[in-house]
Amino acid sequence: MKILHLDSSVAGENSVSKKISAAVVAKLSADRLGAVVKYRDLGADPLPHLTLADLADHTIVDEFLSADVVVIGAPMYNFTVPTNLKAWLDRIAIAGKTFQYGANGPAGLAGGRKVIVASTRGGFYGPDSPVSGYELQDRYLQTFFGFLGITDITFIHAEGIGMGPEQRERALNNALAATGALAA
Ligand SMILES: Cc1cc2nc3c(=O)[nH]c(=O)nc-3n(C[C@H](O)[C@H](O)[C@H](O)COP(=O)(O)O)c2cc1C
Repeated sequence: MKILHLDSSVAGENSVSKKISAAVVAKLSADRLGAVVKYRDLGADPLPHLTLADLADHTIVDEFLSADVVVIGAPMYNFTVPTNLKAWLDRIAIAGKTFQYGANGPAGLAGGRKVIVASTRGGFYGPDSPVSGYELQDRYLQTFFGFLGITDITFIHAEGIGMGPEQRERALNNALAATGALAA
């Protein structure tokens, strides 16, 4: 099993999403002998914004397509994903490789792989929250990977990270416990 592990927080060692994504990868690796992990810290070592010249370079999309499982640490930055992660996403949505337009409209070509997202936020955006409509982080990732044909996407949440140390600890511990329940 090949695992592609991405982080996109800029918070370094203080990052909650990095702790959760690392726990997910540790769990998957423990369940599968011989798992191979490729890691990219897009927060510490960002890809530049996409330019025309980058469109011919398929390094990032080929790395994505070689993975069976993609684990993504994705904090909410201004209601959506960090631009560090967006720069990576811009490099994997390639017509003819990960999607195509046909007679029936767009069709994803990247199905059959699994995506697990460690999704963190300072506030609360669940269905009961008055600001649930501001949630453009999970919704965006679900839409994006769905467009590429990936329907097997799991979110592990840690919410209210900005609401004080107790809530931060509780949310982190709940998320770490949830990684233990991931299917082998
Ligand atoms: C640039 C920036 C923008 C943020 N925007 C939001 C936001 O729109 N909504 C929110 O609830 N939290 C926001 N936060 C808080 C983070 O989502 C929260 O601290 C989360 O834990 C970050 O994940 P990390 O600990 O892995 O870095 C923002 C944080 C930063 C640094």
